[in-house]
Amino acid sequence: MIKVDGLRKEYGSVLALSGISFEVPKGQVLGFLGPNGAGKSTTLKILTTFIQATEGNAILDGFSVRDQPNEVRKRVGYLPEHAPLYLEMTVYDYLDYAARSRDLGSRQECRRAIARVVDICTLYEVIGRRIGHLSKGFRQRVGLAQAMIHDPDILILDEPTSGLDPIQIGEIRSVIRRMGEERSVLFSTHIIPEVELSCDRVLVIDKGKLVGDGKPEELRETVTSSHLLLRWKGDKEQAIKDVKELLGHEVRVDGFQKNDGISHLTIHNSAPEKGHYDKLASAFSGQGQFLELREEKPSLEEAFFSLVGRRTEHH
Ligand SMILES: Nc1ncnc2c1ncn2[C@@H]1O[C@H](COP(=O)(O)OP(=O)(O)OP(=O)(O)O)[C@@H](O)[C@H]1O
Ligand SMILES: [Mg+2]
Repeated sequence: MIKVDGLRKEYGSVLALSGISFEVPKGQVLGFLGPNGAGKSTTLKILTTFIQATEGNAILDGFSVRDQPNEVRKRVGYLPEHAPLYLEMTVYDYLDYAARSRDLGSRQECRRAIARVVDICTLYEVIGRRIGHLSKGFRQRVGLAQAMIHDPDILILDEPTSGLDPIQIGEIRSVIRRMGEERSVLFSTHIIPEVELSCDRVLVIDKGKLVGDGKPEELRETVTSSHLLLRWKGDKEQAIKDVKELLGHEVRVDGFQKNDGISHLTIHNSAPEKGHYDKLASAFSGQGQFLELREEKPSLEEAFFSLVGRRTEHH
């Protein structure tokens, strides 16, 4: 449905994208995750033909953004980062305007299109109200409705849940899910739980490069920083020594011992060697001082930071 091939974008001397490629099949909800300035909006603007790439191309539904932008626009719905809504217009008039500017045909067809998006985005109760008088959540739903008015096969949404409260986010998420059943949805976010809840797949972008691609749970697994936690009633140094003897001396083990005599050990980089858990379990669990052994998987948040290699500001 979407095939992106070597997109590069320079804004003057600023390199915003340094050659990214990926494909999105039909019926997939793809989250585009990255910190501020990563190049998310730039990519989405190129895919929706609002700006041109410096190099590379993208094919959407068989049409090239470079050579057939009008054909691409017919098949793509777009919710920009800062959706230009006409605050004086009523919801109905705005959607009617969107339908007409999409050349949907007869009055009746426009009306049918409006009814469809009003239904998908649950806008009945505000249909006659001015956009300027709506809550942010409703405005965002109007923006989504506008993006889908021509029933596109591909939906591209730039931070659709930004600035919304949890209930509003839930509503947008359910619209995305419904749309993603038969179409391709590509949406950007810098909020990590967002991709875990809404996506089939996540691409991680940082500084204009793709740094991760997979299912949310796979992304978590790619991280090597997962660790084993061992609680042990007894001397910390002795326990560290025992663990190292068992697993090999290159294993990194940190720990602390509390006043109650219980040592808490963290054994790092255990994920690549699945046998570590079993070895520790069988060696320690038979002994009276053993309290607990568990594997701690990093959250997607930690995976993300590990992939982009630095801490970034987020909510
Ligand atoms: N019109 C422009 N002129 C010059 N530089 C730009 C322009 N638009 C974006 N950039 C730069 O390109 C880089 C990528 O920006 P982009 O807006 O694509 O990031 P983003 O991932 O959408 O970030 P955010 O999460 O803040 O929306 C940034 O360094 C940005 O400053
Ligand atoms: Mg952006």
